[in-house]
Amino acid sequence: MDVVVQHAPRFNRAEAEGLAQREFQVVGRADVLPSERDQNFRLTIADGSAFVLKIANATEQPETLDFQNAALAHLAERRPALAVPRVCRSASGRTVIRALGPDGREHLVRMLTWVPGVVLAAVKPHTRELLASLGRRVGETNRAFEGFTHPVMRRALRWDLLRTPWIANELGRFADARRRAFVERVLSRFEHDVAPRIDGLRQQVVHNDWNDYNVLVSPGRTADREVSGIVDFGDMVWSPIVADLAVACTYGMLGKPDPLGAAAAIVQGFHETLPLDDDEREVLLDLIRARLAVSVTMAACQSAAAPGNDYLLITQEQAWLLLERLDAVDPSWARCVFRHACGLPPCPTSAGVTGWLSKNLAGIAPVMGCDLRNTPIVVLDLSVGSLDIPCPEIVQELPAFCAHVDRLMARDGARIGIGRYDEPRLVYVTELFRHADNWHDENRTVHLGIDLFCEAGAPVYAPLEGTVHSVANNAAAGDYGPTIVLEHAVENGAVRFFTLYGHLSVESLDAMAPGRRVARGERIARLGRPAENGGWPPHLHFQIVGDMLGRVGEFPGVAAPSERDIWLSLCPDANLIVGVPGDRIQPRPPDPAAIMARRRLRLGPNLSVSYTRPIAMARGYRQYLFDVDGRRYLDAVNNVPHVGHSHPRVVDAAARQMAVLNTNTRYLHESVVAYADRLCALMPRPLSVCYLVCSGSEANELALRLARAYSGHRDIVVLEGAYHGNTTSLVEISPYKFDGPGGAGAAPHVHKVTMPDVFRGPHRASDAWAGARYGQEVVRTIGRVEAAGRNVAAFICESLLGCGGQIVLPDGYLETAYAAVRAAGGVAIADEVQVGFGRVGTHVWGFETQGVTPDIVTLGKPIGNGYPLGAVITRPEIADAFDNGMEYFNTFGGTQAACAVGMAVLDVMRDERLQAHALEVGARMKRGLSSLMDDFPIVGDVRGLGLFLGVELVRHRESLEPAAAQAGYVINRLRDRGVLVSTDGPLHNVLKIKPPMPFSAENADRLLSLLREILAEDAAQP
Ligand SMILES: Cc1ncc(COP(=O)(O)O)c(C=O)c1O
Repeated sequence: MDVVVQHAPRFNRAEAEGLAQREFQVVGRADVLPSERDQNFRLTIADGSAFVLKIANATEQPETLDFQNAALAHLAERRPALAVPRVCRSASGRTVIRALGPDGREHLVRMLTWVPGVVLAAVKPHTRELLASLGRRVGETNRAFEGFTHPVMRRALRWDLLRTPWIANELGRFADARRRAFVERVLSRFEHDVAPRIDGLRQQVVHNDWNDYNVLVSPGRTADREVSGIVDFGDMVWSPIVADLAVACTYGMLGKPDPLGAAAAIVQGFHETLPLDDDEREVLLDLIRARLAVSVTMAACQSAAAPGNDYLLITQEQAWLLLERLDAVDPSWARCVFRHACGLPPCPTSAGVTGWLSKNLAGIAPVMGCDLRNTPIVVLDLSVGSLDIPCPEIVQELPAFCAHVDRLMARDGARIGIGRYDEPRLVYVTELFRHADNWHDENRTVHLGIDLFCEAGAPVYAPLEGTVHSVANNAAAGDYGPTIVLEHAVENGAVRFFTLYGHLSVESLDAMAPGRRVARGERIARLGRPAENGGWPPHLHFQIVGDMLGRVGEFPGVAAPSERDIWLSLCPDANLIVGVPGDRIQPRPPDPAAIMARRRLRLGPNLSVSYTRPIAMARGYRQYLFDVDGRRYLDAVNNVPHVGHSHPRVVDAAARQMAVLNTNTRYLHESVVAYADRLCALMPRPLSVCYLVCSGSEANELALRLARAYSGHRDIVVLEGAYHGNTTSLVEISPYKFDGPGGAGAAPHVHKVTMPDVFRGPHRASDAWAGARYGQEVVRTIGRVEAAGRNVAAFICESLLGCGGQIVLPDGYLETAYAAVRAAGGVAIADEVQVGFGRVGTHVWGFETQGVTPDIVTLGKPIGNGYPLGAVITRPEIADAFDNGMEYFNTFGGTQAACAVGMAVLDVMRDERLQAHALEVGARMKRGLSSLMDDFPIVGDVRGLGLFLGVELVRHRESLEPAAAQAGYVINRLRDRGVLVSTDGPLHNVLKIKPPMPFSAENADRLLSLLREILAEDAAQP
């Protein structure tokens, strides 16, 4: 049990190489590997394979090395798939040889095979799946060790958690009293909770050192890599199996925002391969804490022996931090988390509580003193997507929330308003309710009790007899205010549970003290006013709690979506006591997987869904979207909600107009001309005639008809990679579609020209004439068309290329191309469906950045902020040519509601100065994105104007080899971290950024810092 570092071998590389060649006939280059006590060399052979030459500390006993070799041989036989080293034999057939070191001492030497892979410590990020695979490997290894024995397996080892109490003698090494107290509490729990169970725990030989530098992850850089194996069997010992799991958990938890969540993932994987029993789950947290305490004590001993080893101290800081975090974790909470990870009901007593309450409804007194079956009540919908709550500010600001609840109750003439159990709500999307999760950004949004809204002062009654467990005034804003917790014991104490009453009046606490008996139906409190109840509308928050987890005077009333099932198990449905008639409470809405399954059944199968894990959206507001669980997403990709999701002025304009008149343009109404005036006023002359349609596709479809009517020609010149819409004739002019999967190639009347891409096309950004050169290709193409006896009706081009990969056209391109098509008797169509309405920052329209005026401009997406609207604006001569006797009628184009919406969008753009805002924020973001190029070679190009930006990812900057897999990885990771971006471009390797225009400088900084973090992760590496 000596911890002092001494007698470490001191072979140099040449000596190691000589030794390997002489004894093991392995010829290779030796490189030193880090080791605490021994000396290890990696030997690389000419053919690329490798070995490890292990030279033991002079104090090492041969039996110990034999123990390791026997274990490795046993694993190789029992679990050949597990990546562990294989033992090599020397030329003389031995697995351990003796060699004289330069220090004159004799050392024991072994040769093992090199196990390929990366150590877990170097892998970023530690996903839930990766940690679960760690758990599986620990489980499999333990299964393989079943029945394995060796004479020295019961050796005395300080790292053996069975021997944890040795650290009690070293407490004096900790000068910091707080830290010493952490270790003392670990020891005390070990004595009281672990030691009595030890004999009942399954014991065998365990690896005992699953630290993150010993655990290997499969080679490669994919997002779904798994733990493949384990090295360093030097700490093997006979100990409880669960101690081995505890070691793996300890290192998996270090540095994680939610350490217990990380442990749960490992436990889940372990339990799948080697099911844990109750006792093992019970001691797991204490063994994890014991491992940390042993670790910091060992470090203290070692640094006393080798003072000045700062590295040792720094690495221990994380262990101390975790020890402190775990010191505050209630063991019952850990039990719930681990049971959940094992697929068991998290709170073991809840089923009994639920069962008893369901059978004893008749014996429960009404909490508000009235039978809710015949009281005027309203069940409020306070969910994320509630149609009763028009805009998030109302639910996120408590005074507005209060007023809103009052309004809803008054509307329905209710005496009591009911707020539902297990309902995710937006009112908790504030910092106060932030939850640290390892894998998502989330808040505690899921309501765990039932709210009973009623006037302040209304009496509250005990539903069952009980004793006061605790009382407290949780006075912080947004908290419970005065709170009472009652404890109930029924069935002669066989069923125990608690009921919690929050948001009471301050006087309610006067008569209540822990231990006081309370009779069934006794008045115990009155509802508090907002000034005393945490700032909420007067209401009772009533909750049933199966296990108080050591808390007094409060208990979480809302849970994070990632922990929802655990908390719902701890807090059974409060309606078992409140008694709202079941048919008044709507069932929980379907989860995303159920919606997905129904989509597959009912909707066309080629309707795509974003992200590997699709999002079920419930609400949009400004530049944010919220899913059904209340997770907030920063929207950095949807340009349709141009002035912001659900902008109140746009919503109001549509609703007011829909409530009065919404009919077609065959009747006279001022709105259609007023709106056409406004749109045309934004266009350069002579673009002055407007058609209103319902989508970008309809706009482009009409543009083709106008062009053909005016020119008398039919053929169309388009850019490679372009997309112009979903109708038959538009798919025919969209290479993005006809050259893609399921496409049939270009029709005879469609002529493609090269994308003017100055990053990867034939003419690069360094060429000042690139625009003109690409334009010349249009000239040549039209020449070829004419030479073949055909003629061109139009050249259609987006003003910045969207599906093409967020490409900015080089100067002079449109000028050359427009001149060419006009010379051929055709017209120039600018597709502004993606980029129009001030997005580019410097101008209202993208084509203006090229200094040209098209003959026809098509508008869509942002024009109606989500309302189906589109427009075509052209010259009077073209409109006249189209007026050939055939009526142009569009049922929904130009209705009063459409015009009201369009007008409101223009008003908001002007009043909120969104174009100038796009210029400013876009420039900031582009600067930030460009700075990523210095640190991440995968960032090949950053381009765009205003808030229309693209980041092209490449595996090699020289060859421009696209990094599509990495781009897909990045957007899925951003999604998990709460930011929505997507990929585009013909090679699917461009990150597409085109947020709603209110996207702020702070939003840009958030996106940039997350992108920086994610680009550093393994699967984002080229
Ligand atoms: C450039 C461009 N034009 C036209 C369209 C078609 O618009 P919509 O989907 O509204 O029919 C799109 C749609 O993505 C587009 O990106």
